[in-house]
Amino acid sequence: MADKSATLTYDNKTIELPVLEGSVGPEVIDIRKLYGQTGAFTYDPGYKSTGSCESALTYIDGDEGILLHRGYPIGQLAEQSNFMEVSYLLLNGELPSKTELDDFSYTISRHTMLHEQLSTFYRGFRRDAHPMAIMCGVVGALSAFYHDSTDISDPEQRKIASHRLIAKMPTIAAMAYKYSVGQPFLYPDNSLSYTGNFLRMTFGVPAEQYEVVPAVEKAMDRIFILHADHEQNASTSTVRLAGSSGANPFACIAAGIACLWGPAHGSANEAALNMLREIGTPDKIPHYIERAKDKNDPFRLMGFGHRVYKNYDPRATVMQKTVREVFDALKVNDPLFETALRLEEMALSDDYFKEKKLFPNVDFYSGVILSAIGFPTTMFTALFALARTVGWVAQWNEMISDPGQVIGRPRQLYTGPTARDYVPVEKR
Ligand code: SDX
Repeated sequence: MADKSATLTYDNKTIELPVLEGSVGPEVIDIRKLYGQTGAFTYDPGYKSTGSCESALTYIDGDEGILLHRGYPIGQLAEQSNFMEVSYLLLNGELPSKTELDDFSYTISRHTMLHEQLSTFYRGFRRDAHPMAIMCGVVGALSAFYHDSTDISDPEQRKIASHRLIAKMPTIAAMAYKYSVGQPFLYPDNSLSYTGNFLRMTFGVPAEQYEVVPAVEKAMDRIFILHADHEQNASTSTVRLAGSSGANPFACIAAGIACLWGPAHGSANEAALNMLREIGTPDKIPHYIERAKDKNDPFRLMGFGHRVYKNYDPRATVMQKTVREVFDALKVNDPLFETALRLEEMALSDDYFKEKKLFPNVDFYSGVILSAIGFPTTMFTALFALARTVGWVAQWNEMISDPGQVIGRPRQLYTGPTARDYVPVEKR
């Protein structure tokens, strides 16, 4: 029982609501008994002041620009760890020993192949289908092939399904890209790293030996780390809500992919690069900044602003640094990077953005890097989904493992017509 409480007086009644304290961050006022005690609901469209669950996975301090995964700062993980190790950390709660990491990586590598019939699934799509449409379809279809890991009451099946999803997302994403460019699918090569295998399946061709560029592999792996998990964002909340009904894990992750596809969320990375291309050169920036400030103009600076971060997104800091590393490794330069740097500088010196605390987020620079590596903009959000899958399955496992877990079922403020009698059509 909490030793702190909040007092609510409503309708001539006063009730005490327990206040719960986490290990760090805002306390929560436990309102689970509110409706029973008052007959009223809380009201919080967009859940700006609502904690939906208890979690030990990821902590964000939006004011300080802090992001921790199981307590480890994202900057340290991005610089010193790798995506397989961060995946193990998110799933298990602790950094693995060398043996544990090798065993985990081996297990994941053994699940990288797709059931051969799934490759025919791709042929049902038009060649110009958006990769996210393909990802939604193919990931949802996994439950039709992997029945032996859909019983969510069985921890072993949950673990296998989690490993299958983490392992197969690179294969599914690479196949979506290959299908869009009319090239043959490449099978996984488990002699490569998780990320190296993905790069080869994406950019390799049967006629040639694909050489993984270490600097690109490291940058891609770091981008995966930066996208791995992010507390109760829209797509993670979608996965949790779908999972709360007992839906199988493949269906839940497909729901998360669908939600991530929105331009306010995961596909902001695609929109941000398209915006930079539309702006073109730095001299055009003032016009677009004015458009972003104009309430009558739906245009927003894509890759800017965040529901939680009211300071610089720590992931954007790492992402910006990674741009130069990739440019140096590939001996390329994209003038859009200069445009992005100038846009950030001009926006952050503008009162509108300062007052509303709008800073670059994870999506602002990622597109410049992904484009330099060779991905089309339509693949950007598929890469986000690939990386976020470990966060989704870790959050899903955390929820399903909670014995107190119940189906999520919000209520509403009803403003429609009150009861009235049916009128036959001849009398209307
Ligand atoms: C991700 O939740 C997560 O953690 C998500 C994510 C993750 O890892 O899972 O971090 C990934 O989705 C990052 C966000 C990517 N989206 C974009 O970059 C799209 C552009 N940004 C926005 O549309 C917006 O900032 C959101 C959706 C990200 C946040 O929106 P909020 O919290 O609902 O804030 P809001 O829309 O109410 O904006 C507050 C004010 C508004 O002005 P007023 O109505 O108060 O006058 O700021 C303005 C907005 O008009 N505003 C912007 C702006 N973002 C907000 N104005 C111009 N350009 C922008 N980008």
